This record gives sequence, C-alpha cells and structure tokens, in this order.
Amino acid sequence: MMKLAIIGGTGLDKIQDLEITHREVCHTPFGEPSAAMTHGKIAGREVVFLPRHGASHMIPPHRVNYRANLWALQHLGIEAVLGVAAVGGITADMAPGRIVVPDQIIDYTFGRDHTIYETDLSQVTHIDFTYPYSEDLRRQLIDAGRISGVDPVGRGVYGATQGPRLETAAEIVRMERDGCDIVGMTGMPEAALAREFNLSYASCSVVSNWAAGKQGSPISMKEVEKNLIGGMERLKLLLIALLRFLG
Ligand code: HPA
Repeated sequence: MMKLAIIGGTGLDKIQDLEITHREVCHTPFGEPSAAMTHGKIAGREVVFLPRHGASHMIPPHRVNYRANLWALQHLGIEAVLGVAAVGGITADMAPGRIVVPDQIIDYTFGRDHTIYETDLSQVTHIDFTYPYSEDLRRQLIDAGRISGVDPVGRGVYGATQGPRLETAAEIVRMERDGCDIVGMTGMPEAALAREFNLSYASCSVVSNWAAGKQGSPISMKEVEKNLIGGMERLKLLLIALLRFLG
C-alpha cells in the first residue's frame, strides 16, 4: 500500500491504536501545519497522523491551514491521504452513526486559502477535479468497511460549508435540492489541495447528527458527541482493516 497519512477531524484528535514512534514538527512556505506530525504504526503498517483541528482541538474549520498541512504531508513522502471528518446527514441513508465514503463534493466555503497556484506563476494551472476523490482509495475504504463489518455508505455528495456555525434549515433544504447527501465544514479546500499536491485523497465521513431541520428540533451537541463517539469507534475498526488487509 502507498504511504498513508490520516488527517483526523472532530472526535479523532488521537488514535489509541497508533503505536507512536516519533513526532515531527514541520515548517512550510504556507506557515505552520495544525500540529506536529505523529509517525507510528497501525496493525504493523507505517502511518502519519495529523489532527486537523490541532493537538488540543483549538483550530476552527475556517482557520485550518489546509495548505500547510498538505504541503507538509507531501514533503514527508506521503502518497495517500485519508481525511476523516464529522458530518451532518441530509438524505435518508445518512443516519447518525453511519460512516460514509463520499464520491462527490459541492463547495460552499469562501475566503479560505484554497490553492497553491497563486503567485510566482510561470503559467496558469487548472487541475482536473471532475472526480474529486481517489477511486482506488475509496474502493479500499469500502472493502475495508465490509471486511470489518462496518458497512459504510459507498457514495454520497459532500457539501462543504464555511462554519463554524451549523446551517439553517433553509440552507439544508437548498443543499438537498443541489444534490448534497452530507454536510461538513472541512472537506474543502482539503480535497482540492490534495489534488494540487498530487496526493491520492479520500474522505471517511462519520455522521454525527441529522442536518439542521431534518429532525424538527435544534441540533443537540450532546447528541452530536454521543453519535461521534460510537461512529469513531467503528471508524477505527475500518482503519485497522484497511491497514491490515489491503494493498
Ligand atoms: N453541519 C456541518 N458540519 C457538521 C455537521 C453539520 O450538521 N455535523 C458535523 N459537522
């Protein structure tokens, strides 16, 4: 298997199953990554772990230095990146607790540093982003999900919102009309930057709540936390299967 990094989201600031070998502080032309890179092994395989929101979960989604994170991973020789994220469920299959391996993205974020092609350009570069995720990595995740009994939803449109507030009910109605199945705040520009850095990238999204207005009552943070704990436990089973059996 390719050298893999896991970017952990809310509910996955550390992985107990990771046998840590060392931590490495990286500096990049885009500034500081979210945290030191944690090198270690899961199921005997080398991985690098990076908590997207910082080691003590202090960086909100719109302030994550996505460019620095991906620059640093590429410079460590990483070839494939798995972005783990908590999301809200919009369509019927995306119930709290489910794990989703999305296949498409709609980007509603704004004002984020979303490209590395900004200055000092000898030519204008347009990356192809028709299929925003690596199909190989998605397949491996879906297979690992089956092997581990986690049974992820193997497709879905990820709607990336700006945050840090949650959405209004009307925004979710609009997103559903647009074709979104799940909603989260960190999927972009992470996926697009991974493509710019030539890294294979896929998302493993853990549904922590029904999206705004889907339940008729406001979103309870207690519920979110509870669903996230269960979802992340299952996600870890999937990760172990991914590293143990595949590639
Ligand atoms: N909306 C946006 N991001 C999220 C949600 C949500 O409902 N749940 C977890 N992350």
